[in-house]
Amino acid sequence: MARKVLITSALPYANGPLHLGHLAGAYLPADIYTRFKRLQKKEEVIHICGTDEHGAAITIRAEREGIPPKSLVDRYHKIIRKDFEDFGIAFDHFSRTSRPIHHETSQKFFLNLYEKGDIIPRTVTQLYCPRDQLFLPDRYVEGTCPYCGYDQARGDQCEQCGRWLEPFQLKAPRCVICGTRPEPRETTHYYFRLSAYAEPLRKWLQEKTHWRASVRNTALGWIQEGLKDRPITRDLSWGVPVPLPEARGKVLYVWFDAPIGYVSATREWGMEHHGDPDLWKTWWLDKETRLVHFIGKDNIVFHAIVWPAMLMAHGDYVLPSDIPANQFLVFRGGEKFSTSRGTAIWLRDALEQFPADFWRYALAANLPETKDAEFDLEELRRRVNHELADTLGNFVQRSLGFLHRFREGRIPPPAEWGGEEVALLRRLEELGGKIEAALEEFRFRDALHGVMEVAREGNRYLDRKEPWRTRKTEPGETDRTLYTAVQVLRAISVWMHPFLPHTTAEIWDWLGMDPHKLPPYGEASIPDPSLGGRTLKPIRVLYPKVEAPVDIATGSEKASRETTVMEEETMEHKPQITIEDFARLEIRIGTIQEASRHPNADRLLVLKVDIGGEIRQLVAGIARQYAPEELVGKQVPVLVNLKPARLRGVESQGMILAATDPEGGAVLLHPDRVLPPGSEVR
Ligand code: MF3
Ligand code: ZN
Repeated sequence: MARKVLITSALPYANGPLHLGHLAGAYLPADIYTRFKRLQKKEEVIHICGTDEHGAAITIRAEREGIPPKSLVDRYHKIIRKDFEDFGIAFDHFSRTSRPIHHETSQKFFLNLYEKGDIIPRTVTQLYCPRDQLFLPDRYVEGTCPYCGYDQARGDQCEQCGRWLEPFQLKAPRCVICGTRPEPRETTHYYFRLSAYAEPLRKWLQEKTHWRASVRNTALGWIQEGLKDRPITRDLSWGVPVPLPEARGKVLYVWFDAPIGYVSATREWGMEHHGDPDLWKTWWLDKETRLVHFIGKDNIVFHAIVWPAMLMAHGDYVLPSDIPANQFLVFRGGEKFSTSRGTAIWLRDALEQFPADFWRYALAANLPETKDAEFDLEELRRRVNHELADTLGNFVQRSLGFLHRFREGRIPPPAEWGGEEVALLRRLEELGGKIEAALEEFRFRDALHGVMEVAREGNRYLDRKEPWRTRKTEPGETDRTLYTAVQVLRAISVWMHPFLPHTTAEIWDWLGMDPHKLPPYGEASIPDPSLGGRTLKPIRVLYPKVEAPVDIATGSEKASRETTVMEEETMEHKPQITIEDFARLEIRIGTIQEASRHPNADRLLVLKVDIGGEIRQLVAGIARQYAPEELVGKQVPVLVNLKPARLRGVESQGMILAATDPEGGAVLLHPDRVLPPGSEVR
């Protein structure tokens, strides 16, 4: 039986929508890896996630909104789920930690450790707010970090240095509800004996020489500082109840139950998708399973120390084999993308502005794999225009465009390879190997770079072979070139799929490739002769350029969604047409000879245009954008077989084609170089 790869991404808190920082931290790399693994067809793969719905992050937020925690998590579970879907993050299962199956799984896990003596009750002093008459759970206390001095450290963790804290370690503590300085009082809590696992963890981590150095060193460093037993219960009414009669009113600490969510979500997946309540065991109880956790760096302590210790204590389950944690994505201007710090681009706003694949490309090219990475909208524009459009889009458009123009969309039959083709295919194979190796090692930026290199090779090949020139003189050579270009495009469409799932699927469709019968990822460079003789579907421009400057409101958490929602509506496409439909339009380049204002309309100009031995009178709604004088001598495309019409009393014998700017104003289009009037546009 094939080896299994169990991929997880950090369960996002259901207390707010997702932003680009979340995506770059865990979900995009996890999705790329999952899609790669599926296409590789070597191992069985599942990608598991869900929302993290417990903990003080949730209850504090719900309190602030004056609603029950359940309403809050219901709302955000839905939103988060939809955001992921639209971004193309393809989980095999997306669960929630508020489900009964998760409560049951976590309680069993707790009891397992409790019975082994790895969880023990202790009478402790805890911070109590005299004003709210409440034992304050971790996040209900804020203060100064004893390690790094950050003055807004939370009682569970310092956001600045990442350390796991306890409330009474904070200097100058304050209650987050009322700001009062809390006082210590006695109560009982359950402690996980983390200290007992320091040595096993150290040994285990030392063997992980293939991990990212940042992750392994951080974890080893913390062990070096000393691991203390930690309380894993809280005085809250929202959460997984501690399954002991004497612990009424206490729930499990969210960081105890959340990672167990990976197990409960796998259980649920087995039942819901395969009707098999025991299927999860073949994943979690098999020590050969490769368990891979995708997380952001603020989660390292829990995934590389606490969770493995819990798993060691439990004993039955497989331990993580990789934790490719990312650093932070920093929005230019200095702050990390963070919901709590207030610099964020919400996924929803991002998707309203540009297609998911544009963002996926720009983010994948900037993933904070080894250090914090910067990002802003100019970066997006640059990546899309100079790489997606100019390199990849250009290759797609040229190779398939030539086929449409020179051969009515029919792919030539397989040809004998010439020296150029043999060299190109060898280069493809070499790049394919590099791309696969990079993905295998979680070097996603390198892999992406490799795929773009293939597109560059494709463009260079077309430049050298000049099919537009050989087409008259050496049709056989042109056919060979176009057939080869299609094979290169096929390889690109497979290799790029993990990064750009939406647009590559369109290419598959145009080429008539069956998504269920793709070649294994590593073999996509081997040409597929069955493409020869097929007819392409109509194509479209996949990666249109992005206008400068793009601007998306970045909002603080408190800023209402309304202020960040773009006013523009998402692009609506018209129904598809065939190339025959298009051929009914006669569009020619015309030279403007005269221009004057329309006698009865401020918005309109009356033009005399030479369309090649014939002068047409055209009325155009461009008077707000252009003065008549500046138009004389300019060349524009004209739809010449449009039925004449009278516009405010003046006859128009055709129509000028122009683009529309965001305000709805006309922007004229000119040919790249001066052409004889009457030149056809098609
Ligand atoms: N909810 C946490 C966060 O957003 C991540 C939880 S990951 C899990 O930082 F392992 F605990 F599930
Ligand atoms: Zn700190």
